[in-house]
Amino acid sequence: MLLDQLGRPLRDLRISVTDRCNLRCTYCMPAEVFGSDYAFLPRSEVLSFEEIERLSRAFVSLGVRKLRITGGEPTLRRDLPELIGRLTAIPGVEDVALTTNGLLLPRLSRDLAAAGLRRVTVSLDSLDPEVFGRMNGLGVSPEKVLDGIDAALQAGMRVKLNTVVQRGVNDTGLREFWLALRDRAVVRFIEFMDVGNHNGWNLDSVVPSREVLARLSADGQGTEFRPLDPAHPGEVAARYTDGAGHEVGMISSVTAPFCGDCTRARVSAVGVLYTCLFSGAGTDLRAPLRAGATDEDLRTLLTRVWSGRRDRYSEERGEATRARPKVEMSHIGG
Ligand code: GTP
Ligand code: 5AD
Ligand code: SF4
Ligand code: SF4
Repeated sequence: MLLDQLGRPLRDLRISVTDRCNLRCTYCMPAEVFGSDYAFLPRSEVLSFEEIERLSRAFVSLGVRKLRITGGEPTLRRDLPELIGRLTAIPGVEDVALTTNGLLLPRLSRDLAAAGLRRVTVSLDSLDPEVFGRMNGLGVSPEKVLDGIDAALQAGMRVKLNTVVQRGVNDTGLREFWLALRDRAVVRFIEFMDVGNHNGWNLDSVVPSREVLARLSADGQGTEFRPLDPAHPGEVAARYTDGAGHEVGMISSVTAPFCGDCTRARVSAVGVLYTCLFSGAGTDLRAPLRAGATDEDLRTLLTRVWSGRRDRYSEERGEATRARPKVEMSHIGG
């Protein structure tokens, strides 16, 4: 088995298929930076479906079992269901998932499900139109995302929700948020992270997961949340149950880093391989792909990179690490 320097196997591949998005979340693509004159990638630079499939097959041959499609906003990539079809057909792939803001799911869910997609993870930070409108930078209403969630459910897909919690921004009414959504989706609250270079992160704006959990419990009836076992090895979210059949997830990369069993590789839309969400630089896979590398050449390159990997950013987080330049969230999709 292919292991990195800290003994971690390569199990998951997150593939970004575009750097564009139809939202401007303040913590990811703030409108002041990603404005109308921002130079997004031209089509020729972005990996084709053939290239993504070839790379995915190479990763799968080295142990990857789970693929996740990200962006930017992956549903903006034309013909996305075709890519899903290609990836779900790769022997050895056990799970294909999609992280999306949900806005285009009413249009796409049926085709995505027909292509073999069984689940989606939708980002939604608040049900309050004003708060959500401010956070997504464009005043888009939460109803639009709820329509997307409903479309995914109707198409037979399972839904998880990602909710980034920022103190003083969307941290009131977390319990009501969970109550309103828990029957439709598995809600996961995420600690605000210092990803990218533009999101104005500071520790004060992080609401620790244990505080979120305490707020969920504060229902006057003494509800207690019990930890559940991870649904799969190396799961990012810690799962809890309220004992009445409802689940909630906590993603605590700031207060309880999970680098110890991080089995994730990331490939950007232009085909750069990053071995950590917080990497400053990666390894270009597109150049060898386009220069005629054989499958064996690709496997050799991936093996070299993964076997040299020592990343554990969230465990080392501090003043010095935070000052390093990092890859943009919109290039590797979280
Ligand atoms: P499943 O467990 O397969 O449902 O997916 P996931 O939770 O791994 O993926 P998703 O894209 O939904 O990510 C949820 C949140 O966790 C996002 O904010 C990601 O940025 C964050 N996250 C995912 N993987 C990592 C990681 O390796 N390191 C850190 N620090 N954060 C991660
Ligand atoms: N901190 C935590 N999560 C973030 N995401 C984007 N930026 C951040 C951040 N700074 C989340 C998105 C999406 C997922 C891929 O990552 O909300 O759900
Ligand atoms: Fe777009 Fe997702 Fe980033 Fe928001 S978090 S700007 S929806 S890519
Ligand atoms: Fe993996 Fe880097 Fe996240 Fe740690 S900070 S869990 S090494 S991606």
